[in-house]
Amino acid sequence: MSSNNEILTLSGLILGVGLVLIITVVMLFNGSAQTTTSKTQNTATNSAPVEDINTKVASLAEPQKAIVLQGNELFQGNCAQCHAVDKKVVGPALKGVTARWENESEIINFIKYPEKVITGGKNDYASKLYEEYGQMMPNHDFFSDQQIQSILTYVKFESGEEIAMK
Ligand code: HEC
Repeated sequence: MSSNNEILTLSGLILGVGLVLIITVVMLFNGSAQTTTSKTQNTATNSAPVEDINTKVASLAEPQKAIVLQGNELFQGNCAQCHAVDKKVVGPALKGVTARWENESEIINFIKYPEKVITGGKNDYASKLYEEYGQMMPNHDFFSDQQIQSILTYVKFESGEEIAMK
């Protein structure tokens, strides 16, 4: 009777340990399988922006690299549906945009509150842009100045402009 119980406990233990092992192996395998697939996809299409940008920034120094990568991520997630660097999409091509504005804080303010700037009527350039594009860019007031600066730095980098670091 007692040896029967011991056998039961023992097989229970073995089953338990076995299960944990199997789960661990499956999880590990899943993880590596996913990494492999996404790597293959990137090389196969060769157009994934993340892969592209990582190669492009390889020659930059550390602080610049981090900022350009941050800007790239924010740009792809929040601006790319309407903007490209080199061509008009819904909004203007952003190449050389810093030179079209009085200073950087004006652009940052515009990106945060385009409607306020346009309807405020005090910025002729912004009014003209709105007339030309006929669509109001949405507010991006959830961004910090630093985040917008990183997007502008990314745009400069993609335009082949020098990136100045403060
Ligand atoms: C839904 C579309 C849309 C999105 C999203 C959008 N924009 Fe715009 N953007 C526009 C349009 C349209 C204009 C032209 C001005 C206007 O009519 O509001 C514009 C104008 C601009 C300008 C001025 C361009 C120039 O030539 O001087 C800048 C800079 C800009 N956008 C940056 C951004 C950034 C950075 C983001 C992402 C954080 C962004 N935009 C997201 C539509 C968009």
